[in-house]
Order: sequence, then C-alpha cells, then structure tokens
Amino acid sequence: MARKEIAPSLIVSVLAFLAASLSAVRLPDALSEAEQPIIKQVTEADSPHAGFLDAAAALLNADAEFEKFVGKHGKVYASAEEYAHRLVVFKKNLVKAVEHQALDPTAVHGITQFSDLTEEEFENQLLGLKIPHHLKSANEAPLLPVDNLPQNFDWRDKGAVTAVKNQGSCGSCWAFSTTGALEGAHFLETGELVSLSEQQLVDCDHQTRAGQKEAESCTGILQCDPSQTSACDMGCNGGLMTNAYEYVIKAGGLESEKEYPYTGTDGKCKFDQSKTVAKVANFSTIPINENQIAANLVKRGPLSVGINAVFMQTYIGGVSCPIICSKWRLDHGVLIVGYGAKGFAPLRLSDVPYWIIKNSWGPNWGEQGYYKLCRGHGACGVNTMVSSVAAAAFTKTS
Ligand SMILES: *[C@@H]1O[C@H](CO)[C@@H](O)[C@H](O)[C@H]1NC(C)=O
Repeated sequence: MARKEIAPSLIVSVLAFLAASLSAVRLPDALSEAEQPIIKQVTEADSPHAGFLDAAAALLNADAEFEKFVGKHGKVYASAEEYAHRLVVFKKNLVKAVEHQALDPTAVHGITQFSDLTEEEFENQLLGLKIPHHLKSANEAPLLPVDNLPQNFDWRDKGAVTAVKNQGSCGSCWAFSTTGALEGAHFLETGELVSLSEQQLVDCDHQTRAGQKEAESCTGILQCDPSQTSACDMGCNGGLMTNAYEYVIKAGGLESEKEYPYTGTDGKCKFDQSKTVAKVANFSTIPINENQIAANLVKRGPLSVGINAVFMQTYIGGVSCPIICSKWRLDHGVLIVGYGAKGFAPLRLSDVPYWIIKNSWGPNWGEQGYYKLCRGHGACGVNTMVSSVAAAAFTKTS
C-alpha cells in the first residue's frame, strides 16, 4: 500500500530529475580517462557516493533498504508500531532524496542517518537557529579589500579548526557555531587550538535581545524574557550566535570542552569563571556580500553563519547548489572554515566554486562532517547572517 502511494510521486520525481539533468549535464562525446572512474563511482550502487540511483533503486526496494539502514545506524525502535511508522517516514524521505537530487544536481543526495526522521523532528532535533523578530544589528565589519584573495583557502590546513562534533538530538547548532568561531579566533590570537564548551552555552546562556534593559537582572547578566522566547538563546530549543558572543563577553569567557563536556540535554549552569580558557574581545556582522565573507574569513578566522538546512537531511556529498532554497528560512547555525575555486559536481561533471562548511552532526554525516555549498549566489541564505568574533589575548597556562 505504501508503495502505491509513493509510485506516482516517484515518477514525477524521476521525470523532474531527468529534465534537470538533461539541461544540466553536458556529456562530452569522448570522456577523458580521468572522468570515467568518476562516472562509474556515481552509478555504482555500492559506492559510498552513489546518491540518486541508490535512492531511486531503494524506493523500489524500500523495505529491504530500511532493514539495511536500521542495521547500519544501529537504530532501535521500541515497538512494532514504531518500526512501521519509521518505515513510512523512511519511504517519504527516499522520495525527498530523489526530489532533492533533481533540485540540487551538483550534489549527491540519498539515505543518511536522518532518513527515519520527519521534517519536524529533523528541525527540532538537529537544527536550532532561533531568529528574533527584531534582529539586533551588531557592529558591521568595515569593508575589506577583496582583490588579492587566495583562490582556495582552508583554515583546517592551518590548525584553526577542531574535530567535527555532534550536537545529538538537541537544537544546539548555534552553540557549536559559536564555539567553532571562538576556537578559530582564539587560535589566531594565541596560537593554541582548544576545544570549547557548547554545554556551557546550552546551560548558561539565556540571553535576551540586546537593548531590553528592563530585563537586566542585578547580576548584570541579561535574563530571558519568557514572553519573548524567540529572542532568547534557549539551550536545546535553539539560539543565536551573536547572542552567544554577548553572553561570553558578559560571563567572562568559555570553559573547555574537557572541563565542561557536552551532554546534549538542557542542564543547570555549572560555569566556573576560574576555568575560563577563551574570551571574546568583540564581534561583528559581515555585509551581505560573498567577497566580503571570503575576505573576512581569510583575515579573521572561521565565521559563524546561518543557513537554510533543508537540503542537508539528504546530503551525502558534492557541492550543494540547489535551484530553489529560500534565504528567508535560515534555521541552522554552522561554521564557514574555507572555500574552494573548483569543487567537483558529480552529476553535472563540472566544477563550481563553494564554501567549506563545518557542521555539528558528527563525522559520519556529509563529507566527513562537512558540507560544501556553492559560492557566489547566496545559496540557502549563506550570505545573509554571517558573523566574525575576535578573541581576547588570554591563555589559561599563563
Ligand atoms: C576586536 O578585538 C581585537 C582583538 O583584541 C582587536 O584587535 C580589534 O581592534 C577589536 N576590534 C574592534 C572593532 O574593537
């Protein structure tokens, strides 16, 4: 029965995909030898990068694919009803993967560890960017020269980026984006790379919108106004990176990951100022201009960014460059760590410029935990909410 429901939309999706690929893919008459293995890789069902064909084939064999998925990701469902429900969700996500593939032909979409989550569960558990109604304007960074930027740039090569972390089932992306930016800034300022505590932000940062003086408590730390929930950082229920920088300034710093480890649940604040290992000096927002974003990245370190994550649930690899991806629906906080001039787009057999984006869904998601998003078109709103933080010169060991 479920298969019957899926069939018509599968056909539509496949047609859409074919239409998109016929217009997008220009197959050369004679493929160079270098290109052949890559084509093979895309069409080979066992390849880790087989996306569309896998997803389409999986649709026809969804029950068996679901069993494979359950085994591979160690999924445990409490009851037969739950198993049946997840199977239905899984089938819907297979259709979604095929649709995403049609709309985003330069990336590879397919089955991921999130293929048994509904859209709502995915949003609540894996995203968590909360944008206030009146986004306060932080200091805008002054314009930087853009003419002598390197073609390719990656802060990972320079030792400014910690290993990919995993937010688990908690909408704390904003905390990971914040620590990532400060880890980089602290490295630039002091030369040492220290993994910083997201849990401190989740537990302790309940910042309200800046300027709401009436909410200021006697401790001097702004408290959350419950009537203004969307303006607050709320642990696993979401937050905002620029609010978090303000919190770090007011609190006096962040503890290390080691001292204040991540639990992935909302807890009581246990911040101990004597254990601070990194401090924020100031922060600024970057103008809506991808050349300015690149210049600020190179000069100031990894940048926090808000994006629309709708294509990330099914993303497997390649450069994501969706034909349609609303920039008005930023829902995920991540970290730009670099960019490339030419990223191979498997299904288009061509190269596109891209951003290298560190995500917080563990190293088994995407490209070893990273997302490549095309550069130069404001894809998924990548240019609209970018911020940079500067660390205060401060080392724990001194
Ligand atoms: C921000 O802090 C850094 C590091 O202390 C400093 O070099 C820079 O001048 C500051 N920027 C602003 C706008 O205050």
